[in-house]
Amino acid sequence: MEKEIILTGDRPTGKLHLGHYVGSLKNRVQLQNTGKYETYIMVADQQALTDNARDPQKIRNSLIEVALDYLAVGLDPAKSTIFVQSQIPELNELTMQYLNLVTVARVQRNPTVKEEIKQKNFNKSIPAGFFIYPVSQAADITAFKASVVPVGQDQEPMIEQAREIVRTFNSLYGDILVEPRAIIPEESVCSRLPGTDGKAKMSKSLDNAIYLSDDADTIKKKVMSMYTDPNHIRVEDPGEVENNPVFIYLDAFCSDKEILQEMKDHYKRGGLGDVKVKRYLNEVLQAELEPIRKRREEFAKDLPQVYKMLFDGSNVARQVAAKTLDEVRCAIGLEYFRGMFNA
Ligand code: TRP
Repeated sequence: MEKEIILTGDRPTGKLHLGHYVGSLKNRVQLQNTGKYETYIMVADQQALTDNARDPQKIRNSLIEVALDYLAVGLDPAKSTIFVQSQIPELNELTMQYLNLVTVARVQRNPTVKEEIKQKNFNKSIPAGFFIYPVSQAADITAFKASVVPVGQDQEPMIEQAREIVRTFNSLYGDILVEPRAIIPEESVCSRLPGTDGKAKMSKSLDNAIYLSDDADTIKKKVMSMYTDPNHIRVEDPGEVENNPVFIYLDAFCSDKEILQEMKDHYKRGGLGDVKVKRYLNEVLQAELEPIRKRREEFAKDLPQVYKMLFDGSNVARQVAAKTLDEVRCAIGLEYFRGMFNA
């Protein structure tokens, strides 16, 4: 039986953090290791440029950081094709073909894009490339005929848009493209990890992230200064565990659910101080992140090797995308010169 195909990726605008890790990276590594899928992992530098065109150096620098994060968490070039979006120009042509199948109103409706526009303060100066990035994301997915896209919850509208494009394309031009489905982490705490400050989302721009590459001291400092229940003032006071990021992180990372339940009950009754809970969270996080950081340091010793991995992966990916693009062009009827003039 043919293997199902996975494609997913991240924008290289900085190092990857715990939100990326529980929201998607962990899932991907597991899927990769089942051996049941053909896996493509993409560093989405072209998409990152849609709102960073004036700072390409940031994207260049982040490319290698994201690649190191990938290797550190266990994505393995022997099992997955890890590649760079901008090195696959076929994706851009696919995007152009798909743009004709999407209305402006439809792009405007995308809730994730709407939220990002607000968050980035674009007002009236939204880059057109940014505005249509969901369409380019449909190109990323369909170029590889991916049916499975493991992503965080915020990416669901992108997958929905891709599905619509596939249906429209196939009904107009014939069954060429594959409809993808998103795979979102089952535990809701994982699909959107809050920041250390309690804000809804962990993100670099909000300066509330714990990075996979943070050293042990930095992690400890960040954990010990985390936002908790603001009404839990004295140790004896009863505290809230819902909406309390310290407990949300424990939900996401602590595998000993019994101890966690005891702590929650104790905290709610009163008598359990924040410092103790934070110390425990620190232990849990250190145990999870130390091996990742060690592996990252090993890979970072040989950056040319990491670039080589991206180069090789991009060559493989480009061939796959070129084949799909050829099918797309033929389906639309753009192969005018095929068979003529030795073309
Ligand atoms: N939009 C994704 C993010 O912001 C990155 C991405 C680009 C992606 N193309 C993709 C994810 C295709 C899944 C499939 O992280």
